[in-house]
Amino acid sequence: MHALITGGAGFIGSHLADHLLTSGHQVVVLDDLSTGSMDNLSSINDHPRFRYVPGSVLDGALLDTLAGEVDTIFHLAAAVGSFVIRDRTLHSLRTNIHGTENVLTAAHRHQARVLIASSSEVYGKNTKIGLREDDDRVVGSPLLHRWSYSEAKAVDESLTHGYVTELGLQAVIVRLFNTVGPRQTGRYGMVIPRFVAQALAGAPLTIFGTGAQVRCFCHVHDVVPALPALVEHQGAYGTAVNLGSSEQVSIAGLALRVLALTHSASDVIHMSYEEGVGPGYEDLQRRVPDCAMARKMIGFRPVRTLDDILRSVIAEQSRPGVAPAAAL
Ligand SMILES: NC(=O)c1ccc[n+]([C@@H]2O[C@H](COP(=O)([O-])OP(=O)(O)OC[C@H]3O[C@@H](n4cnc5c(N)ncnc54)[C@H](O)[C@@H]3O)[C@@H](O)[C@H]2O)c1
Repeated sequence: MHALITGGAGFIGSHLADHLLTSGHQVVVLDDLSTGSMDNLSSINDHPRFRYVPGSVLDGALLDTLAGEVDTIFHLAAAVGSFVIRDRTLHSLRTNIHGTENVLTAAHRHQARVLIASSSEVYGKNTKIGLREDDDRVVGSPLLHRWSYSEAKAVDESLTHGYVTELGLQAVIVRLFNTVGPRQTGRYGMVIPRFVAQALAGAPLTIFGTGAQVRCFCHVHDVVPALPALVEHQGAYGTAVNLGSSEQVSIAGLALRVLALTHSASDVIHMSYEEGVGPGYEDLQRRVPDCAMARKMIGFRPVRTLDDILRSVIAEQSRPGVAPAAAL
């Protein structure tokens, strides 16, 4: 595989780059470093089969050039994180819609296969236990920044579907549920790196809302091998496939597990969403995937537990020279 990873200096993209290089593939990363970091690429930057190209997915000409050099594109570049979407709503919409359209256009022109990273956010407020790919979206007003990420990812999915069904593009959509592990930063609103950093720094763990909201966290090392497997699976083209864990935990329960595993004496405090994320922010009470489709297509079966995940993030943030507060 000669692969282009957009957003490859980010959390998931850099783990994917590691995985593809280890599997013998060639990798080009395109990233504007808006939330990604060259630190994530430090172990592969000198690899003979690796190349980093600074730039944006909003640059259609650059994407066209790069798409002409590869056979497979993993489109992971996006404006991600509730704080990013809140603070740069319009720019985020442009990145997440026009950036994806540029990727699809370039892939179609050069007949490259594509994987488009979508999100469980497309399901919005649907609290069904075991969300299936054909379940309804339940979303709030498009005028609230809260829903703009969900809206953009949904448009990306519709665009991708159109390119597959009307233009014959080979493309699969993956709906990632909460994906976590080393290299994820808490700076943009992600809960696990933020809780771990707070616990290690002896600062209060800050829960937005009641803490009763339920999530399932999947280790990035369980998610990443599924991405090349799906882009190589002909039967996946034109479909959206859930990827995530089904191990449920409440956010309050998560805080307690972080305290226990870090042996921290930090307090746990609650903050309203208004205070924590800003006016108009609504949270989701439950987000649990049904991953039967991925299991059937590629044998997807996450093996790492929540405690494995927490230990890996704690180990990363406890390395000598790493200041936990840097993740906040
Ligand atoms: N981590 C999760 O739990 C999760 C859940 C659902 C979906 N996703 C999706 O997975 C993908 C990767 O997310 P992540 O968690 O690794 O986040 P991340 O912020 O670490 O990665 C996104 C990367 O895209 C880059 N980027 C942003 N705008 C760009 C632009 N215009 N041009 C080029 N690069 C740009 C950033 O610098 C960053 O490196 C995203 O598409 C995200 O929507 C992630």
